Amino acid sequence: MFKVAVIGGSGLLGRALVDELARETGWQIFSTSFSRPSPESVTLDIRDGQAVRQFIDRVAPHAVVIAAAERRPDVCEHDPALARALNVDAVRTIAAAANHCGAWTLSLSTDYVFDGTHPPYRHDSAPAPLNAYGHSKLDGERALSETAERGCVLRLPLLYGPIVSWSESAVTSLVPAIAASAAPNGQPATMDAWAIRYPTYTPDVAFVIRQMLEWHANGETISGIVQWSGDEPMTKYEIAVRLAEALQLDAHLTPQRTPIDATPRPHNCHLASSRLEALGIGRRTPFDAAIREVLTAFPWRGDSSAA
Ligand SMILES: NC(=O)c1ccc[n+]([C@@H]2O[C@H](COP(=O)([O-])OP(=O)(O)OC[C@H]3O[C@@H](n4cnc5c(N)ncnc54)[C@H](OP(=O)(O)O)[C@@H]3O)[C@@H](O)[C@H]2O)c1
Repeated sequence: MFKVAVIGGSGLLGRALVDELARETGWQIFSTSFSRPSPESVTLDIRDGQAVRQFIDRVAPHAVVIAAAERRPDVCEHDPALARALNVDAVRTIAAAANHCGAWTLSLSTDYVFDGTHPPYRHDSAPAPLNAYGHSKLDGERALSETAERGCVLRLPLLYGPIVSWSESAVTSLVPAIAASAAPNGQPATMDAWAIRYPTYTPDVAFVIRQMLEWHANGETISGIVQWSGDEPMTKYEIAVRLAEALQLDAHLTPQRTPIDATPRPHNCHLASSRLEALGIGRRTPFDAAIREVLTAFPWRGDSSAA
């Protein structure tokens, strides 16, 4: 029996991953959560080193996927200690515990390790983060490579996928403002038309991770840094236009052509996915089809569902 521990299985990506891995017969999946407990997961605070070691020793997994993190740039900017505890120190703790049982550790990172001035970025391009989130994730990458005897980092760009609240993804978090702009007497919604993003569908990332785990299960472990990205560039303004079309809303959207975010963000961090593609790994669902699946499963019902 091939055993996989998914740390952070209750998050946006973690849920898609647990769903994807459940399709493998002969695999056993152990998922953890933190503030959103469920009967299918073990509640674990990754800042508690002893609890992390106990969980991993008890499960004795062949592979550990670290999907738990603080991924909100504004929270990281205002609480760098929390960002460090989750994105750096906990990665070190989990990787050390995985070493103890000989498990392969896959940690997730971000395109925000780059400054966005010279895309596309290869896995070996020089990182230069602009904000506290990017710094913490880069330090987390280093913590993994220093600690894990067998480890890999998968860098990802802006994610979207099945949600349980609009705010879970920076793609779907645009929906309440789009809908408000379409209401009678609604004010136009201003959307960033400066930063170029590559929205990437969490079920596709989950499929990529499953393929990487299959390589490991077959004795061909992938190590170092790899990257996966969707291939459709768009600004948040363009994302909002597509969301409005999918929702059939007559939205009033205003493009903002200069950056306005309080937290500095990179312009274009397009990640080259060539290392994984060369191994025959990957899947890309077109944005318009994928976002319709998300909106069908979680329909817009007005302000009452705008959590
Ligand atoms: N979302 C994106 O656009 C994006 C882009 C690039 C890279 N990434 C990376 O992809 C990974 C997954 O991101 P995501 O979007 O799925 O994040 P998410 O939806 O915010 O989920 C975070 C996960 O971390 C868990 N968690 C939070 N604090 C914890 C703690 N103290 N102890 C244990 N678990 C804790 C959460 O558990 P509860 O929910 O149960 O509290 C949840 O399962 C992260 O490494 C992130 O940096 C994300």
